[in-house]
Amino acid sequence: MKLLITAGPTREFIDPVRFISNRSSGKMGYELAIAARQRGHDVVLVSGPVALPCPVGVHRVPVVAADDMLAAVRKHLPACEVLIMAAAVADFRPAVRLAQKWKKTVREPTTLALEPTPDILLTIRSDKGDRLFVGFAAETERVVESARGKCAAKGMDLIVANDVTRADAGFDVDTNVVTLVDAAGVETAWPLMTKAEVAERLIRWVEEKGREQGAGGREQGAGAVASDSSSVAAGADRGEGGASDGTGDRNAGLANRTAPNVRGYSSGGRVETPPPDVTERLGRQMAFLREIDKLKSVYRRTLLMDGSRFENDAEHSWHLAVMAMLLVEHANTTGLDIGKVVRMVLAHDLVEIDAGDTYVYDTAGNVGKLEREARAADRIFGLLPGDQAAEFRALWDEFETRETPEARFAAALDRVQPLLHNFATQGTVWRQHGITSGRVADRNRHVADGSRALWTYAEGLIREAVARGYLDP
Ligand code: PMT
Repeated sequence: MKLLITAGPTREFIDPVRFISNRSSGKMGYELAIAARQRGHDVVLVSGPVALPCPVGVHRVPVVAADDMLAAVRKHLPACEVLIMAAAVADFRPAVRLAQKWKKTVREPTTLALEPTPDILLTIRSDKGDRLFVGFAAETERVVESARGKCAAKGMDLIVANDVTRADAGFDVDTNVVTLVDAAGVETAWPLMTKAEVAERLIRWVEEKGREQGAGGREQGAGAVASDSSSVAAGADRGEGGASDGTGDRNAGLANRTAPNVRGYSSGGRVETPPPDVTERLGRQMAFLREIDKLKSVYRRTLLMDGSRFENDAEHSWHLAVMAMLLVEHANTTGLDIGKVVRMVLAHDLVEIDAGDTYVYDTAGNVGKLEREARAADRIFGLLPGDQAAEFRALWDEFETRETPEARFAAALDRVQPLLHNFATQGTVWRQHGITSGRVADRNRHVADGSRALWTYAEGLIREAVARGYLDP
């Protein structure tokens, strides 16, 4: 999918040095952009002035005032399937913007005349079509009731209400407490979570909604070939001015790209070749091979070691297979069946084609993970002929239960590899998610069950990461 996300405040200038704004830090919108990108979607992030770095792989369009934000949203909306308005757009602006600094010549109170800014959602409402529109509501009283009114008035599919009077929710904090209200008025209250967790869940909601709607008129016909084989440039903050960023042509093709790990939303990019005359067994094996190609589009919360983009699940599995070959001498158990370890690590993440990658530190996202993945295992391995389906399923079960020496060693590699990446990228993702060394140690301690030598190495990396400021103590 291609998502248009807005974040941060707008600034409405009184004169060249003073402006009206609000306390939005941009954290909520940026976490949404990170989560969407991490789940394989293309993201255009229209951002008001904030102090956050551009998320890797996201195309950021910096804007200043509500007018600029409206122009940028109008420009990028046609190529997008989803709009998420997390920005805190100023509702009022000075009726007149002075060309020169307002001098303090009179010592008496003076009055600043204000006028409303354009309401972006209302202005673009007629362009919605079958796109999903998600808004946020910053409320200080009758939170859900007020949000419900805004959802209906602005024609949104969903509004996410946050009670901004709470110290741990809303503006400029790392956590949020939100209640979702959909167009049918159904309310869902989420507990206190980090903004990263809220973002991840919300992107999953959008994906689910997209599946339910069957993509309506945006579905491409079967056999369509992706019109753009390039990816969004890594760290793609092109530093463009809001209204005239000139990316329309460059991004036009992106709307047609397939939606990784969002099955059913778009069939773009899939090349269906007519099946040759094959045995049923070979046909099933080929269908499985086509299916697992999708693993290359499931992105993890781990940056490549050069920091240029997020790693995908297929790359992660390949890396583990090579690690298994190299590092088997450090396993706790001698005489491991290394062939089995390699097969296990190559198979262990295939279920994420359906279930998606769940960030290891996402407490909420990890609830129900095993059930989700077990359903995925049934479907994906079920594509294979019976004997091979059973073989893959057995490998996956063995990896998950970690009861054999091979599984314990495979699981150790699965945890050490992201540590290597996080260290090499100076803890960028750790820092983005506020992860502490204690959490890293707790979540990875079981490395020692497969390889005490690798755990000792990992502990050294964690200590060094703290010393270098890559990881909070
Ligand atoms: O940035 P953070 O510090 O992380 O804080 C996050 C947040 C509190 C800013 C965010 O979670 C949030 O609530 N964003 C929406 C704030 C807001 O403007 O709410 P509202 O109730 O005034 O507006 C409702 C919706 O209409 C919003 O989606 C808003 O983007 C949109 N709007 C508002 C005004 C306007 N002129 N045009 C709009 O489209």
